[in-house]
Amino acid sequence: MKRVELKELTENRQSYEGKTVTVCGWVRTSRDSKNVAFAELNDGTALKHTQIVFDKTKFSDGELSALLVLGAALKVTGTAVKGMKNEAVEILAERAELLGACDGSYPLQKKRHTMEYLRTIPHLRVRTNTFNAMFRVRSELSYAIHEFFHKRGFYYVHTPIITGSDCEGAGEIFKVTTVGYAPAIRSEEEYYAADFFGRAAGLTVSGQLEGEVMATAMGKIYTFGPTFRAENSNTTRHAAEFWQIEPEVAFAELDDIIGIATDMIQSITQHLLDHCAEELKFFEERFEAGLIAKLENVAHSEFARVDYTEAVEILRKSGKQFAYPVSWGCDLQTEHERYLTDEVYKKPVFVVNYPKDIKSFYMKLNPDGKTVAATDLLVPGVGEIIGCSERENDYEKLKKAIEDRGMKMSDYENYLDLRRYGSVPHSGFGLGLERMLLYVTGIGNIRDTQIFARNKNNLA
Ligand code: 4AD
Ligand code: MG
Repeated sequence: MKRVELKELTENRQSYEGKTVTVCGWVRTSRDSKNVAFAELNDGTALKHTQIVFDKTKFSDGELSALLVLGAALKVTGTAVKGMKNEAVEILAERAELLGACDGSYPLQKKRHTMEYLRTIPHLRVRTNTFNAMFRVRSELSYAIHEFFHKRGFYYVHTPIITGSDCEGAGEIFKVTTVGYAPAIRSEEEYYAADFFGRAAGLTVSGQLEGEVMATAMGKIYTFGPTFRAENSNTTRHAAEFWQIEPEVAFAELDDIIGIATDMIQSITQHLLDHCAEELKFFEERFEAGLIAKLENVAHSEFARVDYTEAVEILRKSGKQFAYPVSWGCDLQTEHERYLTDEVYKKPVFVVNYPKDIKSFYMKLNPDGKTVAATDLLVPGVGEIIGCSERENDYEKLKKAIEDRGMKMSDYENYLDLRRYGSVPHSGFGLGLERMLLYVTGIGNIRDTQIFARNKNNLA
């Protein structure tokens, strides 16, 4: 089907003006007046709609009544002309074909729908401006991430989705099994023996462990893929299925990886400012005042950094009544993170050197024996977007961390081997793609960053 995409038509309007073009799209609004009728068309390539003008001497009332229906899919051929509004281009229709009629039960009507309502129609909500913009930003952000790592010589690796170990040790693994309910099975051993892999298997919570395997052979790698967590928490920031970007770098200590994380966030933010200006402006108007200035700051100014111990002091001295009281050793709750980001630093902040007992087994023990070389990057409005650490590269210390947590040693033998054969300091982090999307769009709920959100009791 020969057609001009509406983005191309709008961006290069001068070269199309006066010419006959064919465009396709869905009707977003329409208007009927005495001699002419109008339809605003959108084909998903741009936020702006393109106006089609129907001269009523060329189209019968019958034809028009089908063409002007909200949601109908059209193919229109006509002359491109300079529109009434600045920088707009309009099409004076000569011929129009109804590619797909839309009936009155179409769930998207002209009014502004609530986000809650739109969540009930995930297959159609992508046709709204908000979700069109969201998924263009998501696509562009993903591209920017690949570009960032590619330009710096990182290899993109594909780590397995089905795994036999729990990277975070948090017991949030979804089981992968082919064995259904069978009362004849008498024990766990019997159950797994009958199962596909002959042992327990699950969907990965993180590609890190395999990422370390690759980094200790190829130097620097990153993964970019889906990860899964059976988190019971029904919050606006947790999804059961989300995408993670996990670089892993050999010969890098905590400060080196913090440097890479900072560069990455700044570089991908700048990419969005350069390539998604229209979408960001839309999000600023609809979802977060000051969004663009915020992102410009992120791209250009230094991030803050605070030791966990000092952060706890700041929280204790804040005079705030937190629902969860703060003391050294406690995990920082969302309310604590939000106080640090929204009220103290007002920009991204790395909280460094957490107590070992609240963090994962693989993090490098600091010389104090109490804390680990780990950091979370917290951002205003969202909280944690990156979990980052230097990895424990000492065989005995790592073994002890696995033992202390009561984890199954046999699941981690390969991982321990990396510490037996040419162990090197190495570090990495995980960025949650959807969390980053919340931050750069100002959208408040992670369910609105995914096509089909996956949460507890929600498999749309
Ligand atoms: O802090 P986390 O659990 O770290 C890891 O998984 C490490 N293995 C990463 C690494 O060092 N390679 O998760 C990393 C990030 C979080 O900071 C957050 O952005 C995101 O993944 N994340 C989630 N996003 C959405 N829904 C959830 N349930 C998430 N859990 C983590
Ligand atoms: Mg974390």
